[in-house]
This record gives sequence, C-alpha cells and structure tokens, in this order.
Amino acid sequence: MEIDGANQDYVIIKATGSGVNIIGMTRGRDTRFHHTEKLDKGEVMIAQFTENTSAIKIRGSAEIHSAFGVVRSGDSGSQGE
Ligand code: TRP
Repeated sequence: MEIDGANQDYVIIKATGSGVNIIGMTRGRDTRFHHTEKLDKGEVMIAQFTENTSAIKIRGSAEIHSAFGVVRSGDSGSQGE
C-alpha cells in the first residue's frame, strides 16, 4: 500500500559503529546514489522506500530492522567501529 508515493513499511537503521553511511539508490532504469546520510554511533534513522528510492545501501556497522527481521552490517556485526 502506498501513501504519497511511500511504502508504509519502515526500515530502521541503528548505527553500531561511527560513520555509518545510508545511501539512497534511485528507482527505475538507472541505479544511482541520490542521497547520503551519515550516522554516528548510536544514532537511529527510520525510513521508507519511496517512488524515488528502491534500494538502500549501508556502509559501516549497523543493525537494520525490517519486516524481514534484523540484519547486521559491518565487520564483526556486533561491536564494530
Ligand atoms: N534502479 C533499480 C530499480 O529500481 C534499483 C534496484 C532495485 C536494483 N533492486 C535492485 C539494482 C536489484 C540491482 C539489483 O530496479
């Protein structure tokens, strides 16, 4: 279901290390970066996929909470800086 072009499911990203980058990738034929957000350790971002964003790339150590469960990005996955 869509509200104003945004999917109602949220993705929650919690930085477990410093300098985590959340990169929004464009929807459609091209796959480009269109937005970058930097999180410091402990910061949380709550986001939705939209008509402009079909994929999100995460660099660094983070917990990603979604309808699919929890995935950890980064080296060790738990303590990573
Ligand atoms: N621009 C692509 C699209 O909207 C982005 C994308 C979504 C993608 N899923 C992907 C790119 C899987 C590679 C693989 O479809």
